[in-house]
Amino acid sequence: MHVFLAGATGAVGRRIVPLLIKEGHRVTGTTRRSEKAEFLQSLGAEPVVVDAYDRDRVREVVAAARPDLIMNQLTDLVVYDVAANAKLRREGTRHLVDAALAAGVRRFVHQSLGWIYAPGPGLADEDEPLDLDGDAARRSLVGSVLEAEQAAAEVPETVLLRYGLFYGPDTWYAPDGLKVDEARAGRLVANRDVTSFLHVDDAAAAAVQALDWPSGPVNVTDDEPAAGTDWMPVFCRAVGAADPAISTEERPVWVRGVANRKARGLGWAPVYRSWRDGFTAF
Ligand SMILES: NC(=O)c1ccc[n+]([C@@H]2O[C@H](COP(=O)([O-])OP(=O)(O)OC[C@H]3O[C@@H](n4cnc5c(N)ncnc54)[C@H](OP(=O)(O)O)[C@@H]3O)[C@@H](O)[C@H]2O)c1
Repeated sequence: MHVFLAGATGAVGRRIVPLLIKEGHRVTGTTRRSEKAEFLQSLGAEPVVVDAYDRDRVREVVAAARPDLIMNQLTDLVVYDVAANAKLRREGTRHLVDAALAAGVRRFVHQSLGWIYAPGPGLADEDEPLDLDGDAARRSLVGSVLEAEQAAAEVPETVLLRYGLFYGPDTWYAPDGLKVDEARAGRLVANRDVTSFLHVDDAAAAAVQALDWPSGPVNVTDDEPAAGTDWMPVFCRAVGAADPAISTEERPVWVRGVANRKARGLGWAPVYRSWRDGFTAF
């Protein structure tokens, strides 16, 4: 299959390329910077330089590649800027979908998020309602995720990968990552919101398997969603930091854990089943 991978240089994209090549697929991989083209070539991809905000250029490169499938792994998160990322999620996805429809591409695999479900008991499956009634920041996050998912679903066959929170090499939760710096500076505060983690290698493996999955959302997370009060002390100890402060804020739990039953039923299984093992493998 010929895959057009938008975001091929990112933390997950750069892991997807070699896996696709190993399975015999052809990959056209995007970057905004011509100096990264050689890196993509070294992974086995055919590089194409394009900015996702440039609607005409996106159309042009997709039409020229004529792929069987477009995979959207675009994010704008090197600097922690949720507004920039939400804008890219909305506009970048829109441009890729328009390009897919114009070029007659019938399959789309889209990077989405798992921490978007409304509060409720237990772990959330894919058919649970989304959290559209939270505070302004929460509504903005969930709204932008939903808008991008709805755009992606305009392509006839679309898999929505509702990923957990990445950790591992090249992420915020890596030995040289942003969150390690925050932990060592004593800036992490643990609360009872539940995080569903995902090792970035397991995220890449799921994206490759999703080439053949049926359309619809799939939660892709590890097996042990955990409250901040459980995972954060383990993370801090793993990176040689003091235990985090515990939040004294009185409020209900906002973020709910996510069930990975559907992904497991489709044949995917995390190599890193729990952040407990993953953090200590740092
Ligand atoms: N589910 C999650 O937890 C999750 C998901 C995604 C990211 N993150 C975190 O975010 C951090 C940064 O992620 P990252 O290293 O993947 O970097 P990133 O800056 O988020 O970039 C990801 C990909 O998107 C591309 N990109 C960004 N803006 C673009 C634009 N306007 N047009 C076209 N392509 C664009 C980048 O390409 P070029 O820069 O080569 O142009 C890159 O290939 C990491 O800590 C990662 O773990 C977390």
